[in-house]
Amino acid sequence: MTRLLLLLAIFVASPALAADPVTVASPGGTLTVAVGVNGEGRPEYSVSRLGRPVILPSRLGFLLTDAPKLERNFAVAASARRSVDETWEQPWGERRFVRNRFNELRVTLEEKSELRRRLDLVFRVYDDGVGFRYEFPLRGTSAGVRIAEELTEFALAEPATAWWIPAFQWNREEYLYNRTPLSEVGIAQTPMTVRTESGLHIAFHEAALVDYSGMNLQNEGHGRFRAVLTPSSDGPKVSRTAPFATPWRTMQIADTAGGLVTNNLILNLNEPSRLPDIRRWFTPFKYVGVWWAMHLDKETWGPGPRHGATTANVKRYIDFAAANGFRGVLVEGWNEGWNDDWFANGRDFSFTKPYPDFDIEALARYARAKGVHLIGHHETAGNIANYEAQLGPALDLYKRLGIDAVKTGYVADMGGIQALGADGRIHFEWHEGQVMARHHLKVVQEAAARHIAVNPHEPIKDTGLRRTWPNWVAREGARGMEFNAWGQPPNPPEHETNLVFTRMLAGPMDFTPGVLSLEGRGQPIQSTQAKQLALYVVIYSPIVMAADLIENYAANPRPFQFIKDVPTDWAETLVLNGEIGDYVTIARKDRNSENWYLGAVTDENGRSLAVPLAFLTAGKTYRAQIYRDGPTADYRGHGKDIVIEERLVTAADVLTLTLAPGGGEAIRFVAGGR
Ligand code: NOJ
Ligand code: CA
Repeated sequence: MTRLLLLLAIFVASPALAADPVTVASPGGTLTVAVGVNGEGRPEYSVSRLGRPVILPSRLGFLLTDAPKLERNFAVAASARRSVDETWEQPWGERRFVRNRFNELRVTLEEKSELRRRLDLVFRVYDDGVGFRYEFPLRGTSAGVRIAEELTEFALAEPATAWWIPAFQWNREEYLYNRTPLSEVGIAQTPMTVRTESGLHIAFHEAALVDYSGMNLQNEGHGRFRAVLTPSSDGPKVSRTAPFATPWRTMQIADTAGGLVTNNLILNLNEPSRLPDIRRWFTPFKYVGVWWAMHLDKETWGPGPRHGATTANVKRYIDFAAANGFRGVLVEGWNEGWNDDWFANGRDFSFTKPYPDFDIEALARYARAKGVHLIGHHETAGNIANYEAQLGPALDLYKRLGIDAVKTGYVADMGGIQALGADGRIHFEWHEGQVMARHHLKVVQEAAARHIAVNPHEPIKDTGLRRTWPNWVAREGARGMEFNAWGQPPNPPEHETNLVFTRMLAGPMDFTPGVLSLEGRGQPIQSTQAKQLALYVVIYSPIVMAADLIENYAANPRPFQFIKDVPTDWAETLVLNGEIGDYVTIARKDRNSENWYLGAVTDENGRSLAVPLAFLTAGKTYRAQIYRDGPTADYRGHGKDIVIEERLVTAADVLTLTLAPGGGEAIRFVAGGR
């Protein structure tokens, strides 16, 4: 009886009808977003495309640790609109110019209770995607906001297939992608990419993850996903002082899989560059390094008879780099602290003390005399307390020596980051929690002040912050080449065709391709040489490694020529074909010449792809330098069968690419023909 009365009371107390939602369409009218509150005053939004629902009404809000939740009893107090259509220039990238064209809707919500708290929802609607964020204004909120959970939902209107990796697992973001019905997703990391039954491609992610914790997506059933923020050791998942804005929650939406790749939503939602003159001190480059030998266990990071970072060995790499046009030489294992237990605690790492058999001063001089730069390495083992205590002097040392790029590393299991808390004690944190969002930006900013570029491994996810801080040039954040050395299992042939449409939507990856030997540590690499070359075009990064041992390049001079020729900075990028997890062909135009490059990769299935060369400038003749799988090529033991040939082509030609099982094809189109 009392329950019935209560229900009646709730029913009477809530307005019978919600006010009409406020809507905003994208500039070309493709997407429409509706924002409003339902009958209980719960904020919600929905998305439709060309009149068909894509995202059904989905809730918005927050649980707080020290105040009533922000989730119901709201009314729309105000709304405002604005439109932007601008084009901005990247310092380097997949394309030089980026168009930023959207309609924005700002909805101010106000609680109807005596709390009268306000929350702004800001939606930016593009023809190929939607971004929205929450803004906490000062009014009505106490300045300190402690978020227990974000209640953002994404309710897919249609059944779909999903490509995803699990969140909160011990090996962080280094998992093979699952391809499952949407209904079988558990808790996924982002980007999570789906293809709906009607063929729409949607990638869920976030942009501008600043001073907040990373978002994961939990399957709540019936196509509905809810944000799950990464935990923090001090209770609330996010602690902030109002006013502040959350990261953007993003949905890239396209007819084709390739439409996700050429989408600029994530970059556009980030703030403009804070380093407008960066091209004066950094330009994209390729590098070799003392690295693969350690993963093969031929050399060691730590001191001893097989120590890799010796003065003599590094000189060999510098000579090789100079002779073959590589700007960078990465050296790992150069500094004290690589004891047997380094990954368990990381507390012995010194970032200023080289091992005695590594003459850093002499090597830096030797490199610079040959136009080569050493690339620094700061493996922290996740002990950021130890790293931050040395950060200034560590970067000063590099600056003094002309070492203008550093690879950082955070090898630690989930929840294994060691950070210094406000209480002066060590706290254990997650790689994608708020503490790490702050840490990475701190390193990037300290490095920028010294004109040093940063490339973190075991990083926080990429959310497009390279637009604001372009010295954050690349990162790892997925299974890279190293898994082919020792991974159980190694990367299967479909891996890169998954990465392109998932992880790579977030931003550049330091994948470290180019292992022409096709040999891991006692296990074959499931690839072909032609595919190793194609990866230089397919996987974008402004810094790209030629990962193999230099003696293996010396032994394979003909395919190595492509690695020497391929640039790492592009004027334009086109996806010519592709299906997630199956195959993809990408064409990119060099930023510094009229040349084009093409890379195609396939999964375990061989296939033929007809590729019209319409992207080339009409009327021009190009010399197509083709690196393709030979007739017996196969990732199961015949990866070195490669055919290298040249022919003249024009924009009117159609090339048929024949990819071997697990194979690929790389082409350099040299403008000007004969
Ligand atoms: C993992 C990184 O991905 C790899 O590139 C590096 O060599 C090791 N950590 C050691 O720092
Ligand atoms: Ca496949």
